[in-house]
Amino acid sequence: MIRLAVRVAAADAELVLAELLELAPSGIEERELPDGRIEYAVYGAPGELPALPEIEVAAGGAIVEIVTSVVDDDWDQQWKAFHRPVLIENAGRALRVRPPWEAADDGAEQIDLVVDPGQAFGTGAHATTRLCLELLLALEPSGACVDLGCGSGVLGIAAAKLGWAPVMAVDHEAESVDATIANAAANRVGVDAARFDLRRGGPAPTAPLVLANLLLPLLLDVAKVGFDGPRPQLMIASGLLSEQAEQVAEAFGSAHGLRELDRRSRGEWSALLLAASPSDP
Ligand SMILES: C[S@@+](CC[C@H](N)C(=O)[O-])C[C@H]1O[C@@H](n2cnc3c(N)ncnc32)[C@H](O)[C@@H]1O
Repeated sequence: MIRLAVRVAAADAELVLAELLELAPSGIEERELPDGRIEYAVYGAPGELPALPEIEVAAGGAIVEIVTSVVDDDWDQQWKAFHRPVLIENAGRALRVRPPWEAADDGAEQIDLVVDPGQAFGTGAHATTRLCLELLLALEPSGACVDLGCGSGVLGIAAAKLGWAPVMAVDHEAESVDATIANAAANRVGVDAARFDLRRGGPAPTAPLVLANLLLPLLLDVAKVGFDGPRPQLMIASGLLSEQAEQVAEAFGSAHGLRELDRRSRGEWSALLLAASPSDP
């Protein structure tokens, strides 16, 4: 097993992370080095890791150093130590997202959600996912939901646990669809997952609630191409650097009459809750 680490200046860290997540969607270890630089690391067998030229292109001039090391038999322990349960709270509700090897916190009044972090993006730990989950916790379930770019399925599964039904989830990667099906089964909820390419597949699947943790270009594509049925009543849009939030709110507002109801931020990231405006059909 190889550990591939990219070291960047703290000021560049969030932007580099956004690019690296495209290359390593199943998760990136992050730690601050004693000198203040940030190190992002991925683990994989030789041949499974992103290629160095790809990383250099993705991170632009921000990389200070790339370090590869062979990790031995306890790499899975390191991996497990990195994936800790995440508690998300909002509006008097709490959701605990945990890997399968961590026990459920039976005594606590919280929704228990198990996600296997090995397969696809979405352990609940990344700010873009957390922000979506926070906004989702505040909504009263009212019908069907679709999770666009589902990764591990964490958002759709959370919606199903909160009472949204039926829940559909799409992703262009087969691994994400497989992970969503497996994670939904582990959580004993129904999520109908399928492959769909939001860039090339035409209008996006729609439902009264649309969850979309995608990066800016894809969100703008969805706003432009539109939905394959009635516009959503509610939409959570995430994967945005804070300075991009206005552009996304404007795109969905002008094309679909979806207006900003709420915005939450964490670090450099923001997520939007958009709602259909009755005066703007
Ligand atoms: C930032 S991850 C979000 C994963 C999960 N929904 C979460 O919130 O943690 C974005 C997801 O969008 C998917 N994606 C990227 N481009 C896509 C496309 N053109 N069509 C469909 N899905 C896409 C990726 O495979 C990835 O799973």
